[in-house]
Amino acid sequence: MSTRILFVCLGNICRSPAAEGIVRDLCAAQGLDVTTDSAGTAQYHLGKPPYGPMQQTAKARGIDISDLRARQVKSDDFLRFDLIVAMDQENLSDIERLRPAESETPVMLFAPLADDGRTQDVPDPYYTRDFEGCLDLLQSAAQGLIPGLIQGVIEDLQTRA
Ligand code: 4NP
Repeated sequence: MSTRILFVCLGNICRSPAAEGIVRDLCAAQGLDVTTDSAGTAQYHLGKPPYGPMQQTAKARGIDISDLRARQVKSDDFLRFDLIVAMDQENLSDIERLRPAESETPVMLFAPLADDGRTQDVPDPYYTRDFEGCLDLLQSAAQGLIPGLIQGVIEDLQTRA
């Protein structure tokens, strides 16, 4: 069965759609059966495509996120996803407030998976305007996520064998 991962930021127009696009492409390239989605803790941009500068900077790296549309994260997401990945600590605590009592779905930060291992939060490029730096960090964190996904697939196969 497909592993379902939800990426979450504040507005769902910069960091989380970019993270989704990066991981979606990496998993496709590796033949990993992963379903991705993204959402925002806020509802400022519902139904909107990713922010233009983020779309363009990602496109220049071969990542097309023009098909994605913003939505708000909801309690039900805890039941629909195997893993929820937050872009910063504020997102993480906002997401945790929505957790249904029966859910054990892990919610983790994305940036600590990056190769320097010291970054907690993905700085918001909507405010910093550093879209390249944001994508550098997201791509590094995505590389850090893949071994865990491969391991998950192996464990899944072993449980079914
Ligand atoms: P994101 O960035 O959380 O990475 O999508 C933001 C985009 C827009 C706003 C905030 C954060 N906003 O306040 O409109």
